Amino acid sequence: MKSMSGTTTILSIETSCDETAAAVISYDDAGLTVLASVVSSQIELHAKYGGVVPNLAAREHIRNIIPVIEEALETAGVAEDDIDAIAVTQGPGLIPALLIGVSAAKTLALVWQKPLLGIHHIEGHIYANFIGVKSKLQITNAKRTDGDIFPLLALVVSGGHTQLVLMRDHFEYEILGETRDDAAGEAFDKVARILGLPYPGGPAIAKRARAFCDSNDQLPNSKIQTNLKEQIPKPETETRKSAISNLQSAITLPRPMLDSDNLDFSFSGLKTAALYLVKENEARKTDEGFVNEVAHEFQDAVVDVLVAKTRKAIETYSPKTVIIAGGVSANEELRNQLRNSINILNLEVRPPSERVSFLVPEFKYSLDNAAMIGAAAAVRFVRLSSEEREQLKSNSLSLDPNANLPLR
Ligand code: KG4
Ligand code: ZN
Repeated sequence: MKSMSGTTTILSIETSCDETAAAVISYDDAGLTVLASVVSSQIELHAKYGGVVPNLAAREHIRNIIPVIEEALETAGVAEDDIDAIAVTQGPGLIPALLIGVSAAKTLALVWQKPLLGIHHIEGHIYANFIGVKSKLQITNAKRTDGDIFPLLALVVSGGHTQLVLMRDHFEYEILGETRDDAAGEAFDKVARILGLPYPGGPAIAKRARAFCDSNDQLPNSKIQTNLKEQIPKPETETRKSAISNLQSAITLPRPMLDSDNLDFSFSGLKTAALYLVKENEARKTDEGFVNEVAHEFQDAVVDVLVAKTRKAIETYSPKTVIIAGGVSANEELRNQLRNSINILNLEVRPPSERVSFLVPEFKYSLDNAAMIGAAAAVRFVRLSSEEREQLKSNSLSLDPNANLPLR
């Protein structure tokens, strides 16, 4: 990487799905700082259809894109001259939606004569982990030697993706495992629909799962694990398991591929199991307690599989850092259970020099936003030569959205 001189300022745009977002982010020796992050959500518009309608999304993006960009620039207090480059989500996503952000970004890049970077949406989710008041990228680097956050393991869990990704350096991605059918977020959304809960399903299910714990005076499993860790200095795996299962709900759903040899996932069978469970108990669909219990068990099933596979990947690849990326990373039970699992691994298995750092994005950068796109773009931009930057300026009009953009 080139030594950083001065500050790099990026204007970024994200319109891959149902959020119109723009941000201004700066990158200097203190790390990645968000100067402004504006997100205009279309959740209410799409909720009545139970999911995102691509053409409606595009129409809303057209309506919102200019005001959102203007607000980001105004809040950040920056003007054309302060911007070093423009970044936009190039894919994956809905083409009609992506097109609006890409068109706006191309226009600005052309008129302002700025380099234009097309960023992979999931790369943005990954780099959201490094945004901080004092950038976590810098803090993590400072604690160790520069760049020593790698190898890094990312658990990517969004509405469209569920992957375990190994990074040996910035922007080097090796997909270790992925879902064979539904993504984790997609499963949350589908099961929420089965339970008659609103869109988006993830937050709705999380809320009902929490209500189940509250009404039964139960701690969420992550809290039980924390307590057990405090009570039992060297807990046996089996002890932990039985203590937790004593507190589990009467309803049980499968944990697909929990013990499989690979790092792949499958959530469609779990969704079908939830569907049959609800069909068999049709009369109880209006019973709030029943819905809460199914939501709790479903969330636990997803989290159990995600945590077990991440742990397996840690044991196999010994990363220095583990992060979670994508909308489902907002799930508190997932964050807590993963943190507990890594803490236990660090305490029991690893010598101090091999301890794993665990980073999570701030909640506001877990869901779709443009700051994460700016973060990835800034780290990419500072590594480019002046010729490469010139090329991004002169080629800006040839950047096209790609619904199936590969991560690389
Ligand atoms: O990353 P994201 O905002 O959009 C995509 O790139 O797909 O992720 C959206 C997904 C949705 O499926 C939503 O239900 C899920 O993230 N989600 C959650 C939570 N918040 C959002 N899933 C579980 N728990 C949450 N708290
Ligand atoms: Zn996303």
